[in-house]
Amino acid sequence: MTTATAPQHDLPDDLPPRLTRLTFHGPLSEARATAMVRRLAGVQPGSVLDIGCGWGELMLRLLAAVPRAHGVGVDVNAADLERGRRAAGARGLAGRVEFAEESAMGTGRGPADVVLCLGASQALGDDLGPALRELRRLVADGGRVLLGEGFWQRTPTEAELAGMWPGASPSDHHDLATLVDLAVAAGFRPEWIETASLDEWEEFESAYQADTEVWLATNPAHPLATETRARLDTHRAAWLTYRGVLGLAYLTLVPTKA
Ligand SMILES: C[S@@+](CC[C@H](N)C(=O)[O-])C[C@H]1O[C@@H](n2cnc3c(N)ncnc32)[C@H](O)[C@@H]1O
Repeated sequence: MTTATAPQHDLPDDLPPRLTRLTFHGPLSEARATAMVRRLAGVQPGSVLDIGCGWGELMLRLLAAVPRAHGVGVDVNAADLERGRRAAGARGLAGRVEFAEESAMGTGRGPADVVLCLGASQALGDDLGPALRELRRLVADGGRVLLGEGFWQRTPTEAELAGMWPGASPSDHHDLATLVDLAVAAGFRPEWIETASLDEWEEFESAYQADTEVWLATNPAHPLATETRARLDTHRAAWLTYRGVLGLAYLTLVPTKA
């Protein structure tokens, strides 16, 4: 009797890569990031707080631009935080930044001169209104909040919603005007309103999967291949459904005085 033997894989050295092709964990071009850093550096912040920082690429660039500034990034993802610490060390910023593994929900951090919250308002709560009021609490008077937040570019159809993410609903996002109105109601004025372009989305979503797609193509018999293929296919189908429907707004917000 012969026994079919699957190729032996030496876990965990042989795992699919994770997000190695991304610079930012969102649709953000080098040109826009440079302009944002320049705008925020103009405030001459002494302190930067990055909510749901991941590996904190934009925070690190802001700290590099403002040598007196100290930063704290909070996130619950240990691997991304470690990537941030490695990047800080490589750029000589380790003494001016802390990557803290903790939830941002009800955080005792802040207030800070600049608060970054990029694709991460869910870290402050499910409802955007309260999350925006929390950002107002976390930023010092005279400071800035840079919020990266999803919005509907147009109302999605029922068929599109069914193809996006489990339980996707029109109430998951606002339109851009309502989003900015909510920020104003929470105690801000918008200094700058901009939105990710289709090019930025395509760059981001391609880079999001590219390393794992290449890994899968060369490791089709790996024990993790089946679940990896399913994850990639599900995400690609969702992305190609929300492409052009889901937007990402970057709002540079000035807190109004109480
Ligand atoms: C789309 S990523 C954005 C990461 C980063 N802001 C960036 O732009 O590169 C969202 C991040 O929010 C983090 N997050 C989710 N819930 C959180 C919570 N309760 N507290 C802190 N971070 C959280 C996730 O771990 C993830 O790193």
